[in-house]
Amino acid sequence: MTKKVIVNADVGKGTINKNIYGHFAEHLGRCIYEGFWVGEDSDIPNTNGIRNDVVEALRNLNIPVLRWPGGCFADEYHWKDGIGPRENRKRMVNTHWGGVIENNHFGTHEFYMLCDMLDTEPYINGNVGSGTVQEMSEWVEYMTFNGESPMANWRKENGKEEPWKLKYFGVGNENWGCGGNMRPQYYADLYRRFQTYVRDYGDNKIFRIAGGANVDDYNWTEVLMREAAPFMDGLSLHYYVHPGGFWNKGPATGFSEDVWDITMQKTVYTEELIEKHSTIMDKYDPEKRIAIIFDEWGAWYDVEPGTNPGFLYQQNTIRDALVAGVSLNIFNEHNDRVQMANIAQTINVIQSMILTDKEKMILTPTYHVFEMYKAHQDAERLDLNIESDSIKVGDKEIPQVSASASKAADGSVTITLCNLDKAKTADLAVDLRGKDLANVSGRIITANEMDAHNTFENPDNVKPVAFDGFQTSGSELTLTLPSKSVLSITIK
Ligand code: AHR
Repeated sequence: MTKKVIVNADVGKGTINKNIYGHFAEHLGRCIYEGFWVGEDSDIPNTNGIRNDVVEALRNLNIPVLRWPGGCFADEYHWKDGIGPRENRKRMVNTHWGGVIENNHFGTHEFYMLCDMLDTEPYINGNVGSGTVQEMSEWVEYMTFNGESPMANWRKENGKEEPWKLKYFGVGNENWGCGGNMRPQYYADLYRRFQTYVRDYGDNKIFRIAGGANVDDYNWTEVLMREAAPFMDGLSLHYYVHPGGFWNKGPATGFSEDVWDITMQKTVYTEELIEKHSTIMDKYDPEKRIAIIFDEWGAWYDVEPGTNPGFLYQQNTIRDALVAGVSLNIFNEHNDRVQMANIAQTINVIQSMILTDKEKMILTPTYHVFEMYKAHQDAERLDLNIESDSIKVGDKEIPQVSASASKAADGSVTITLCNLDKAKTADLAVDLRGKDLANVSGRIITANEMDAHNTFENPDNVKPVAFDGFQTSGSELTLTLPSKSVLSITIK
């Protein structure tokens, strides 16, 4: 039976912060090294050491913000090891991720250069777990102090006369786990102390992000909000979809129909997490001044056979396109509290945009969804009501269709729709109120196989194509959404 989707184009629900479309790049596996950084002497075409092909592809996504250097790596990273002449930089062991040598060739200067190339806002995550207050404080001074100071002078000696701007700064990462195995009371106190010395120099105003909860650790949110709310602008939240659980995640390809359903159900669970953490935050911050910074999310599977288990390299299929589309719709719909989200991770790690093999590069289905959704960035979210059939997953039920709608500054409306069902189509009647259905176009990404993906031999196997299967009548747009699909409709 045809289900209704009502979009009220004249009822705005606040801006969808473009930072919801943010990314995360850690010193992990082949994300930074090989993915972004190949060095100036590489045969792979590069600009000052950074790959040209990935920069060109990522610029097309309008990446608003990029989080670096970790993740777990952040709480082991000592920024002073990553500045000055590269040949003199300290070599260390990346103990979290594969035990490989980290030569520190990609450091603060290189990160800012990358952000310039991508035209993106840096989000730097500081070290609480194994760092000191002084080290964190001096990093901020190094980057942002304008004038004479020990750190600013050092920056100038390293070739950067003017300070950089730094907007987003995270005070530790996963401090309940790899960032120090702390209890929330202890971290709340450390957060208060460390952030004191994260100074605003001149007109540089830092948005301070406290390390937040793991998945459904609501007590962590409660304690952080109770003890440290006045000192933070954002509180992070991490949640990964592991179909078989953390210790038995399951493969990225070659999975069963049941595993497809479980993946969808675990993706939809993102909404419950946001709502429950947000309810706790409301108690201490009813004005919603403090943002949820969902700075790690994505579908995390077993590594590809034969690859380093510590490198977290996995394929990316149409299933991941759905994980991305549904998650982004959920973030959009919670734009009152969710002000940033950073998918893990940009290249060659977990749910990537891009996979590389030496000089070769492919775009993943997830990349294409980010590209199809980019019109939502900084657009006004629109009121939306949706009827949907349900999918039964074990003893749970999830909606078959996920949706979000927004209006851009030029008045054009974008509606993104996902069909989570692996086999059934969805007949929809989209009633667009308050805007003429004059100029409608669509793009869809879908596939026949549940694990359809791109390879270096067949890079365009899964990609968006034009969709014109609409019928319009008055304010209504009827369409059939194929199974396993993400559709983006634009009404000019
Ligand atoms: O993204 C991979 C890892 O997952 C990050 O380093 C860590 O923060 C999380 O546990």
